[in-house]
Amino acid sequence: MEKELVIVIDFGGQYNQLVARRVRECNVYCEIYSYKTDLEKIKAMKPKGIILTGGPNSCYEEGAATCQPELFSLGVPVLGLCYGAQLMNFVLGGRVERADAREYGKTEVEVDNSSALFADVTPRTVCWMSHNDYIAQTAPGFRVVAKTANCPVAAAECAEKGLYAMQFHPEVLHTVEGSRMLYNFVRGICGCSGDWRMDSFVEETTEAIRKKVGSGRVLCALSGGVDSSVAAVLLSKAVGEQLTCVFVDHGLLRKNEGDEVEAVFGPQGSYKLHFIRVNAQERFYQKLAGVTEPEKKRKIIGEEFIRVFEEEAKKIGAVDFLVQGTIYPDVVESGLGGESAVIKSHHNVGGLPDCVDFKEIIEPLRNLFKDEVRKVGLELGIPEHLVFRQPFPGPGLGIRIIGEVTAEKVRIVQDADAIYREEIAKAGLDRDINQYFAALTNMRSVGVMGDERTYDYAVALRAVNTVDFMTAEAAELPWEVLKRVTSRIINEVGHVNRVVYDCTSKPPGTIELE
Ligand code: XMP
Repeated sequence: MEKELVIVIDFGGQYNQLVARRVRECNVYCEIYSYKTDLEKIKAMKPKGIILTGGPNSCYEEGAATCQPELFSLGVPVLGLCYGAQLMNFVLGGRVERADAREYGKTEVEVDNSSALFADVTPRTVCWMSHNDYIAQTAPGFRVVAKTANCPVAAAECAEKGLYAMQFHPEVLHTVEGSRMLYNFVRGICGCSGDWRMDSFVEETTEAIRKKVGSGRVLCALSGGVDSSVAAVLLSKAVGEQLTCVFVDHGLLRKNEGDEVEAVFGPQGSYKLHFIRVNAQERFYQKLAGVTEPEKKRKIIGEEFIRVFEEEAKKIGAVDFLVQGTIYPDVVESGLGGESAVIKSHHNVGGLPDCVDFKEIIEPLRNLFKDEVRKVGLELGIPEHLVFRQPFPGPGLGIRIIGEVTAEKVRIVQDADAIYREEIAKAGLDRDINQYFAALTNMRSVGVMGDERTYDYAVALRAVNTVDFMTAEAAELPWEVLKRVTSRIINEVGHVNRVVYDCTSKPPGTIELE
């Protein structure tokens, strides 16, 4: 049976991955493609619906991102959002103009409930607006189905042709009933039945892996992070002991993390696989001795990781398949899917494929968003503390210690971080904050403890809320929690006499300190 597919056509807007995620939350599978994608290719995929995203251009300007008019006569429902809405009207003969004032922020929108798009939506509802241009005149055949005080066409439709346009962004959470509107489009107007479910994903994927791998041997670099853990368990479910997982402990993991990974995946754990733990701590510390420049540290850690893995791979000998925990945002961000060209090479285990003798790569999570990977993890019975682990950078604590990395500094930051995480969990905040950790500043200052003068390090606490990790706000932690964490770190962790809280958002800061 063919899977139902909705295509998101990317015009370069900042929320485009969110559109796809929201559609998938309606149990409808969708993929993102650049607006430059050939129309024939789109037709061949037989989508049940098409969504045009926002974008930074003005559609009436020379060279602006555009689409062919035929896109609107494929007999497939099309929903245009923001730029996509303007473009739809412009291409079909309407008028788009620059507004006198930009409309930005939460805005009350009056919707017409007779439109299928707004079925069961409150007649006056709050939506997220962000536009300079506006639809001054709808294309022939369209009728206006929503408006705001400043925007005469907040939504329009030509229902008999299945064309819908929304000036606001239903994909962002500030649009209170946005999910309902997208549900109305994909499940109602496009008629998708909602066949995208994680339990069937697990069954279908393990079956496909089994077929592909046959009696071959599979190698996986396991970091203990969510993606590689879920990928490893899927593989182990599919091919059992044909899978070997190599876990490199570079000595820059959080406190007890190496042992925790071993407890789950090692011989005492519950999965059928070969587990190899490489304790390479000393090697990494030696390579990092005397190095203070952040980029150089990252490079050393990345390269050394590859060397260690290479040595292990040589011991194992040739394998047939190498598993990578690539997920859908990696695919989109590396320019293969949508329009966004941001390449975050540091987010992947670069270089691994070159050092292993293998025939083919398996990327079982390639089509999944992070929250879907977590659902698969739960479906597979992976412990919750692994499934809901916060992001942890590949270079680990190496980039949470400003300046030179030493074994002693690693111990300090591990202990401080463990206390911080424990207190955040005790306060019930661990699922609310997207990322939080302790870091070691390179600053030493004078303090007093008992009757003694001290000259010790300052620990920085970081906690951020973010949707996409590209921008972030410092979390407003309760003062009580900060006080408790501070006092515990000073009392329990040697060589720390000061604790500071990092209030910087991103931008201008980054989430990590290096
Ligand atoms: P920044 O510090 O760039 O971090 O604001 C954004 C997100 O990416 C994570 N991060 C990394 N992840 N390798 C990774 O796998 C890295 O080198 C790396 N640097 C940052 C960071 O933890 C945050 O979630």
